[in-house]
Amino acid sequence: MKFFIDTASIDQIKEAKELGLLDGVTTNPSLMAKEGITGKDNILKHYATIAALVEGDVSAEVISTDFAGMIAEAKELVEIADNIIVKIPMIMDGVKAMSWCTENGIPTNCTLVFSGAQAILAAKAGATYVSPFIGRIDDTNWDGMELIKQIAEIYAIQGFETQILAASIRSSKHIVDAALAGADVVTCPLSSYLGMLKHPLTDIGLAQFLADYRKGNS
Ligand code: G3P
Repeated sequence: MKFFIDTASIDQIKEAKELGLLDGVTTNPSLMAKEGITGKDNILKHYATIAALVEGDVSAEVISTDFAGMIAEAKELVEIADNIIVKIPMIMDGVKAMSWCTENGIPTNCTLVFSGAQAILAAKAGATYVSPFIGRIDDTNWDGMELIKQIAEIYAIQGFETQILAASIRSSKHIVDAALAGADVVTCPLSSYLGMLKHPLTDIGLAQFLADYRKGNS
């Protein structure tokens, strides 16, 4: 399973990289705005900075909602670096744009996916990644993880090669559940990865080991 960080924060990306577990980065227009990155030139420069910082895939999202605009943006984004993946929303022109990108060797991440039907379309369009938004499904009182299970089953039955990128992941429990449900990748803030470290018995056990060492060596 790959670990992506879902942020446009350079500090968070650097910190995640220091853990030695970082396989890639996902961003979106909201995350860019959160870091105060606005204006096309600044956004493209920021993508270049992120892409130079990590070896793995970096998803950069198109803003256009029409086919021609998405294609123009896709061409521009992949010029930034070899590890840029063009993130395209699951709308009709998005499906056309993803199919075009596939035919033209441009890797894509199909975003804003909330159903098995949409995930099938993403795979048929040849998306490199499909991004079901788990937390946002949970927010509507449905079980987001059920969608990961469904997509994993469909892709296995059909032999689709699109990788399942569990997005809108908000806790360490989500990460464990996504791993069990068959996600190929999870993307989340650094806090969710750090949450995986925590267990009170680890802290109690370590304190005991160190206390016993001190007793034996005093
Ligand atoms: O990767 C998608 C993510 O950025 C959305 O997360 O927490 O805003 O639903 P959230």
